[in-house]
Amino acid sequence: MTLLIKNGEIVTASDRYTADILCVGDTIAQIGRELTAPAGTEVIDATGKFVFPGFIDPHVHIYLPFMGTYSKDTYETGSKAALIGGTTTLIEMCCPARSMSAEEGFELWLAQAEGKSACDFSFHLGVTRFDDATEAQLRAIVRRGVSSFKVFLAYKGAFGIDDTELYRTLKLAAELGVVVTAHCENETLIAERQKELLAAGKIDPAQHHESRPPTVEAEGVHHLLTFAELTGASTYIVHLSCREALAEAVRARQRGVRVAVETLIQYLLLDKSYAERPDFEGAKYVMSPPLRDRSNQAVLWHGLRDGLIQTVATDHAPFDFVRQKPLGREDFTKIPNGIPSLEDRITLLYTHGVAAGRIDLHTFVDVASTQAAKQFGLFPRKGTIQLGADADLVVFDPKHRGVISAKTQAMNVDYSAFEGWPIQGRPDVVTVRGEVAVRDGKFVGRIGRGQFLARPTRSVPSAPAR
Ligand code: URP
Ligand code: ZN
Ligand code: ZN
Repeated sequence: MTLLIKNGEIVTASDRYTADILCVGDTIAQIGRELTAPAGTEVIDATGKFVFPGFIDPHVHIYLPFMGTYSKDTYETGSKAALIGGTTTLIEMCCPARSMSAEEGFELWLAQAEGKSACDFSFHLGVTRFDDATEAQLRAIVRRGVSSFKVFLAYKGAFGIDDTELYRTLKLAAELGVVVTAHCENETLIAERQKELLAAGKIDPAQHHESRPPTVEAEGVHHLLTFAELTGASTYIVHLSCREALAEAVRARQRGVRVAVETLIQYLLLDKSYAERPDFEGAKYVMSPPLRDRSNQAVLWHGLRDGLIQTVATDHAPFDFVRQKPLGREDFTKIPNGIPSLEDRITLLYTHGVAAGRIDLHTFVDVASTQAAKQFGLFPRKGTIQLGADADLVVFDPKHRGVISAKTQAMNVDYSAFEGWPIQGRPDVVTVRGEVAVRDGKFVGRIGRGQFLARPTRSVPSAPAR
């Protein structure tokens, strides 16, 4: 199978030039001008278009039993939506219930994806319990190519772990060279504030923010990074939403703590006024940490521009507005948390980042692809365009104009948080290891084409824990 992409303007995190790309089998075989192709090669004319490395979403939920219900996508619907949006690799959070062993959890999540995904995938392994039996299982799963864990400092009584479990998880991760991704919010503060708000009759979606203000998130970041400092573990803060939390991460970095930061497209573009919309409409915008005051958006954009924040993800967690969000109609603490956006991350980031002049093209590629590959052991197989890399490519038309709508989306959810938003540019052609999966913006790929990506651990840091 050969594919020739001609005359595109190739943009990576570091380079920008016009050339042809010849893909043979799964990988990039040649890059140059006026390349000729063997007979039978499919030729795609990318004149006037950008060619980006396939985008990577490092924080996605496809299968998620959560808050009394299940997230709506399957790997079939989710991977199609990802590809239409230019995402060729997703890393899903494997989130076993506390009653499950790590091994059972991993097998269950793997079974949802294997043979059912059109794009490549990997997992962060949720450590939702840590006891003596867990440790041996985690070691075995890491050997199978899962080189990142996920811990929740929030969600008391569900996925949340206690401090003893956190310490032991981080120690093991430091020993193995595993990165620990973390949801950072103080669960005790949330639980107490939720009780107070409900007792005062404050039940509407806007109260979600009041129960988890920025200081609750900042405390979570500080808490995690204190443990990281003492264990020497490498950490990655997921879905960071506000200046207070970022300040804690930057302070810890200055002390030598190993920490990378992810923000979400939602926090860059939406603010807490959306969750304050009347008639329960605000429930569409309930996620954790909550959407913040608008003034945080500039802090996050600057953080991306200046390298304080490494990645932009989606934390895609689709729950229907009509049937699922109303579980919390009389009690905001029961609204299933999540704002779907797997399909729209790239066009929104391009429109409001690059086209609006907030970030340049290289930063765009870096935060939406390259950094995720580097943080999670996929680089340079993924995350860039070079000889030998996987031929995951996005031919992007910057002249396209469109409008986001739930009526036309591939994500299996009944609303869009960005309904009616205009977008500039879109992925025209998307390839998964040399095979065309999207043409003219439409899915033409193959369910089952996607592979599980085994990822190596990091070399264990030489600096000792304090
Ligand atoms: O609200 C969110 N973020 N839902 C998904 C679960 C999580 O915390 O990542
Ligand atoms: Zn989370
Ligand atoms: Zn999440």
